[in-house]
Amino acid sequence: MYKLAPSLLAADFTALGLSLMGIEKAGAHMLHIDVMDGHFVPNISFGLPVISSIRRCTKLEFDVHLMVTEPEKHIEAYAKAGADCITIHWECFEHDGEILRNCIEIIRTLNKKVGVALNPHTQLEPLLPYVELVDMVLIMSVEPGFGGQALLPFTLNKAERLAAYIKQNDLNVAIQMDGGIDRSNLKTVLNSGVTVVVAGSSVFGAADVGHGVRAFLETFRSYEIRQRNMKKAQGRM
Ligand code: DX5
Ligand code: ZN
Repeated sequence: MYKLAPSLLAADFTALGLSLMGIEKAGAHMLHIDVMDGHFVPNISFGLPVISSIRRCTKLEFDVHLMVTEPEKHIEAYAKAGADCITIHWECFEHDGEILRNCIEIIRTLNKKVGVALNPHTQLEPLLPYVELVDMVLIMSVEPGFGGQALLPFTLNKAERLAAYIKQNDLNVAIQMDGGIDRSNLKTVLNSGVTVVVAGSSVFGAADVGHGVRAFLETFRSYEIRQRNMKKAQGRM
């Protein structure tokens, strides 16, 4: 049920193919790919040539997080380069739902999954009417642009409110959280309703990337068992 998306930004670029094979073999579910344009965020990361090239060495689902202005201009190219899911930022549309709707339509026409991302200080409520249109909502738990930051705890409440909305409306929408997640705060993150965990430094910073992945998967497993047992116990009461 819970999914791990190691973030490419923290990978060792001198040994990219090996690192990707390592996380795939260890059971990571997808690869989170941060595309930054130096405009929407103050940093520049990597783009199409890197993605189309690594597409050849892994079957991992490519979860492309577009931190770019005017994402609609780039969606098709990223889809062609190998993206399976394309996440766009709500802030790009100045919270205009109709522009968001058009962008979602473009991604759907290309048969890709759609995510919409919210920065830490962006309000959740104006986005809620559009949540049913996407496969995933990404709650940024750090200011976007850089890896290796500490998780901002106030963003957990946003995930909780989103999880409650998804449950109330019986929607099939994943909640992804991105930034500053490690094993010390993972359970708190899962408690907030997050189902897809992005982890950069805590996976690729491990001495062995496979070990980094397995550490997360073990916590997912023990968390799932605890949830199941709690449900059973509630059923008996
Ligand atoms: C930040 C990126 C994140 C980042 C996460 O702008 O969106 O995906 O790579 O890295 P860690 O897990 O190191 O915070
Ligand atoms: Zn990201």
